[in-house]
Amino acid sequence: MSLILAHRGASGYAPENTLEAFRLAMDMGADGFELDVHLSLDGELVVIHDERVDRTTNGTGSVGSFTLQELKALNASNGMEGFSGARIPTLGEVYDLIQNTSHVINVEIKTDEALYPGIVEKLLKLEEQKHMTGRLIYSSFNHYTLMELKALSPKSPFGILYSDGLYEPWKYAASLGAKFIHPHYRTLLLPGLIEGSLQAGIGINPWTVNDEQTMALCAKYNIGIITNYPDKAVRIAKA
Ligand code: G3P
Ligand code: MG
Repeated sequence: MSLILAHRGASGYAPENTLEAFRLAMDMGADGFELDVHLSLDGELVVIHDERVDRTTNGTGSVGSFTLQELKALNASNGMEGFSGARIPTLGEVYDLIQNTSHVINVEIKTDEALYPGIVEKLLKLEEQKHMTGRLIYSSFNHYTLMELKALSPKSPFGILYSDGLYEPWKYAASLGAKFIHPHYRTLLLPGLIEGSLQAGIGINPWTVNDEQTMALCAKYNIGIITNYPDKAVRIAKA
């Protein structure tokens, strides 16, 4: 059965990367959700997509230039009506939200622009504090970050994020010790990609699968679905 992960929460219906979007994803029957983490100026793990707050909040500037208290004062409704109370959550708050459930979280470590030294140690510490081991899949476009994670926590499952036509990505993934590839959905039909990965024992969690045809393809092969529309994916893949 496909693992259905709501991309930034049910972001097709509620402001991305907010508790509102994560709650809705669970209500819609997703197995869990994907989210993006950065570090605040005072070193707190915060959940937001961009390196800057400008697009999704009423503030201006880099996430890392705000303290947690300053970030919490921002409206994170991303212009969506009916969500004026939405705030940037800490990762700890999100872990609390799933504490008494069996949902899974794909934690994307956003070390693509800012490198956030120490972010991996903080993630592992929080995982332990909140008893999240076994419920997380880490991923990043920055594969050096993933190797740091592996060095500190060899058993933590992780997926390599990438966007383009990486050749035989399952071989590269296996060489890094990755459990998953997280490819852009448009690369799914490249020759041998699905079969090669599955035969090599590497799981596939493509993003961002929003069209029904690709959802059906994922369901056929029982591979993951990272989507803004978890209700649609549940309808197609869990029918
Ligand atoms: O983790 C999947 C996907 O979220 C990667 O791209 O830019 O939406 O974080 P982005
Ligand atoms: Mg992401």
